[in-house]
Amino acid sequence: MSSSQVKFGIVGGAGRRGLVHLKVLKTFKDAHVKAICDIDEARLRKVAEAYKVNAYTDLDEMLNKEDLDAVVISTPTPVHISQTLKCLEGGLDVLLEKPISLSLAEAKKLYDAVKRSNCFVVVGFQSRYSNIVREIENILDRDTLSMLHGFWYWTIPIVGWIRRRSMGGGQIVDQAIHLIDLYRLFAGEVEKVYAVYTERGRDTEEDRATGFDNWASYVVAFRFKNGVVGGLCTTYALYPNIFPIPEGVKLEDRATAESAVMIDIICREMLIRYVHGKEVRVYQRGKETRVIRLEGDSTVNMLRAFVEAVQTRDKTLIRTPYEDSFRTMAVALAANFSAERGAVVDLDAFISSEG
Ligand SMILES: NC(=O)c1ccc[n+]([C@@H]2O[C@H](COP(=O)([O-])OP(=O)(O)OC[C@H]3O[C@@H](n4cnc5c(N)ncnc54)[C@H](O)[C@@H]3O)[C@@H](O)[C@H]2O)c1
Repeated sequence: MSSSQVKFGIVGGAGRRGLVHLKVLKTFKDAHVKAICDIDEARLRKVAEAYKVNAYTDLDEMLNKEDLDAVVISTPTPVHISQTLKCLEGGLDVLLEKPISLSLAEAKKLYDAVKRSNCFVVVGFQSRYSNIVREIENILDRDTLSMLHGFWYWTIPIVGWIRRRSMGGGQIVDQAIHLIDLYRLFAGEVEKVYAVYTERGRDTEEDRATGFDNWASYVVAFRFKNGVVGGLCTTYALYPNIFPIPEGVKLEDRATAESAVMIDIICREMLIRYVHGKEVRVYQRGKETRVIRLEGDSTVNMLRAFVEAVQTRDKTLIRTPYEDSFRTMAVALAANFSAERGAVVDLDAFISSEG
């Protein structure tokens, strides 16, 4: 296809995240968003009119009528697999939002379809496309890496379906999965997972009235195959906007705000502190502490890489291929499985199971 315009459709294009994809792609000269598909007809019409794109409430109809090269899928998690399979059948490259699925068995079906296809399926772990994550990969001393320790403090999810356990899967699966993806990038494959979760702190009538039926707080322990250990503590329990960005501060200057999402990476001679969406701090024996700020927008970088991969067929541009992201999803699902059964989960055995 070389450098011609990539013709896009966006499924869930009137939603919160779908709109971000639409706005970013609209700024690319070599991308053309032709159509969006969304079942919320009122919002669909509004967005389609504002951005001058064709509107569909039915994915099959969009795929039949539009001549597309690629699709972004940004719908609720339970419909990800069936929609991605349809796009692959139509010979389209896909950028699929995380998390891939709540069902290991369904995700395995898609895995087989991806292997059979010549199309790309890229998963929306945009942090891998950021300068600060690349910086960590360059400086990390993997020989002395000993421990990863992370947290993600959040509140009741803003989006209704994410509050429901059966739709969103809980905080680890829907949100902290971004950190699990980075844990794997830094420490390699996970061997064992053990998780304990609680509903305590978000178990009131008021919470239930909003449709919230999820766990409130989550603690997960990991052992990686190379012996590294990891811990991840996350929550939906807090009140909203606990660390607001000070008035007048632009989003790109978030370094002035406190942060609720971090990973500490512990090596013998080095502590690397990753502050999600903001910066990385490097503490090293005998050296001045270095701070590297996030540059640009990781979602823009991810979509840029996707467009160029579609044009050139160069796989190396893709940092989050389905086959790799599948293992990140498996770790998150294994954490839920562990918490529900009170058992240590061997990841390879879990992936080999029926799911
Ligand atoms: N990568 C990130 O940082 C990031 C951030 C936010 C959300 N997400 C992911 O993006 C996806 C969407 O999340 P969201 O927060 O935008 O949710 P949302 O509810 O705001 O948007 C989803 C949209 O999909 C539409 N929809 C539902 N079922 C549909 C169907 N069968 N066909 C077509 N459209 C359908 C809804 O009407 C809605 O407009 C999820 O997978 C979520 O985890 C990723």
